[in-house]
Amino acid sequence: ANGTGGLRAGGNVTVDGAALWNDILETARFGGTPKGGIRRLTLTEEDRLVRDWFIAACQAVGCTVTYDSMGNQFARRPGADDSLPPITMGSHLDTQPTGGKFDGIIGVLGGLAVLRALHATGHETRHPIELINWTNEEGARFAPAMLSSGVFAGVFTEQEALDKTDRAGIRFEDALVGIGYRGTEPCGQHPVAAYFELHIEQGPILEAENKTIGVVTGVQGMRWYEVTLTGRDSHAGSTPMTMRADALLAAARMIEAVNEVALAHGPDAVGTVGLIENRPNSRNVVPGEVFFTIDLRDPDDAVVERMEAAFRDRAAAIAAECGMQMVLERVWDSPAVHFDPACIDAVRRAAGSFGYPARDIVSGAGHDAAYMARITPTTMIFVPCAGGLSHNEAESAESADVAAGANVLLRAVLDADAR
Ligand code: GLV
Ligand code: MN
Ligand code: MN
Ligand code: MN
Repeated sequence: ANGTGGLRAGGNVTVDGAALWNDILETARFGGTPKGGIRRLTLTEEDRLVRDWFIAACQAVGCTVTYDSMGNQFARRPGADDSLPPITMGSHLDTQPTGGKFDGIIGVLGGLAVLRALHATGHETRHPIELINWTNEEGARFAPAMLSSGVFAGVFTEQEALDKTDRAGIRFEDALVGIGYRGTEPCGQHPVAAYFELHIEQGPILEAENKTIGVVTGVQGMRWYEVTLTGRDSHAGSTPMTMRADALLAAARMIEAVNEVALAHGPDAVGTVGLIENRPNSRNVVPGEVFFTIDLRDPDDAVVERMEAAFRDRAAAIAAECGMQMVLERVWDSPAVHFDPACIDAVRRAAGSFGYPARDIVSGAGHDAAYMARITPTTMIFVPCAGGLSHNEAESAESADVAAGANVLLRAVLDADAR
């Protein structure tokens, strides 16, 4: 510590909020939708374009930009002692198929705003500072989410990640090579001193309570499942109701069961079926095969475990009733995460030093920070979003709130640098 009390190191450096907002609008062109959202699935042409933009923008504020074997991008600003491990910031630039302009993006562009502020003031840090754009955070194209921070943190092997396929059967590695972002530096080979991630809340709490900053204490537990039901294709006109093996009907009952199981494990438990494929998907064929996904979450891992057990029982009964063969697989388990007390404290102090109204909050969404927390002191900073809406093209946040979040990010990073 440098002993300057409330306003610690860098107490008078702040971010350029207008430049940050401009970056948000400018990058929203890459995959921008008519409804004002973004469709920028990972490892697509749109993703390549925003990555190219990221390199130029970071170089313009004095950084060296590299990418590793998973396509994670690292913008590095040297420290006074460049042999120290970097203090890192990051998030993701990929989006959901109907994503907004803020989820993930403000964590990367907020980090860029921090680097720009340091560059503009010539502020020298002890550690190098690094900004990371993680590949495939959303998990919308390649499951699971947080795939490349997961490789970085040793949760997944690089080979298992490279072998993931999207729903069209395209391998992750081929898509990565295809956009020219498969680097030679092995993913996860460099130590880091701390990790901070700025993000919109993606829920309604901060807005409802008029808070500018969420001091994120952890991330709830989440599990993903894949279900394939196999019945029998048959004629919709001539197959009596008693002689059908209708996979879509069985799926409908299971979707209802997911909802009931989550409601029964409240108040925080949530359960979602978000992706379904019906085969052959023809209006006069009784569906013979259905594939669907399940997402279960709760801040308490024991509750997630009980939800899974309850759903498995219900699903087995429904499958038997409907004459289905069922394959039910758990494809991802991300246990609840508790962030680093010193990092949380740095964020709380930073918010206080600016006089921003703040409260502690647990993240309902998954974030790369959840995996970084396994290998380095980590925390997150939330800012409000309109109506708590996210994973929606109408996702929206206030420029002043995003700038406030970036200021807190800046000061928390400088605090960690001074420790
Ligand atoms: C990713 O956005 C997740 O929380 O599932
Ligand atoms: Mn996100
Ligand atoms: Mn998301
Ligand atoms: Mn997410």
